[in-house]
Amino acid sequence: MSTNSTLKIVPKTGPGRRVSVPDIAGRKGGEPVVSLTAYTAPMAKILDPHCDFLLVGDSLGMVLYGLDSTLGVTLDMAINHGAAVVRGSTKACVIVDMPFGTYQESPEQAYRNCAKVMVETGCAAVKIEGGTEMAATVKFLVERGIPVMGHVGLKPQSVNIAGGYRAHGRNQDEAAKVKKDAHAISDAGAFSIVIEGVVEHLAAEITRDIPIVTIGIGASAECDGQILVTEDAFGMFTDFTPKFVKRFAEVAVEMDKAAADYAKEVKARTFPADEHCYGKK
Ligand code: KIV
Repeated sequence: MSTNSTLKIVPKTGPGRRVSVPDIAGRKGGEPVVSLTAYTAPMAKILDPHCDFLLVGDSLGMVLYGLDSTLGVTLDMAINHGAAVVRGSTKACVIVDMPFGTYQESPEQAYRNCAKVMVETGCAAVKIEGGTEMAATVKFLVERGIPVMGHVGLKPQSVNIAGGYRAHGRNQDEAAKVKKDAHAISDAGAFSIVIEGVVEHLAAEITRDIPIVTIGIGASAECDGQILVTEDAFGMFTDFTPKFVKRFAEVAVEMDKAAADYAKEVKARTFPADEHCYGKK
């Protein structure tokens, strides 16, 4: 029995309980699954009421830490941000992305690190990238009590093999590979699979063909659910928006305006005003 004091006890049944892994698995062909990335407690709190699951994606390395790729994300980073998102949410299922190098070596290495992530964050499941080559590992994890979400198509952890971030499945060989990968991960027992950066008709075909819930990003509206990186979707970057991202807000523009207004008021000594000072009015 773990005595880890960072674990948050959440109700497992009844009204107000968190969305569970079986709840998500049960949405195949049903109401689309809504998900976004979250890396911090305040962001989790805002997104929680609207999402079925929150993904603590390894995209946090690029979004929060300014890294060039997701490869520099460590297990400690995933655990610290995962625990923060569990603390900041009460309703959504929380899923943590396993960082590069923490699961690919062997099923045993994967089990050790995935179990550590689950115990130390309180998350409900982990996500791992890969296709046929990871199927034995997925089976090993699932048989031992670790729910796994797969990730095929564009796999950001393989950017150095793929030679960049580009859509997959444009030719027959590539399409056959993505299909084979999705089937292998589904057959291995994953409850769901992210399909990233895959031509639309292929993502739709895979969604029809496999029995598990597909989550699209740069894929198809026919997927069983969708995910986006929150900072992309909310317009928190001003420099680059990938084709598959819709900006649902312009938060960076608002923040720029707020910072400029603040700077102006500080320089003009109009902030703090009397109502912001102790002992005055
Ligand atoms: O790391 C991440 O944020 C992801 C999603 C974009 C699927 O893997």
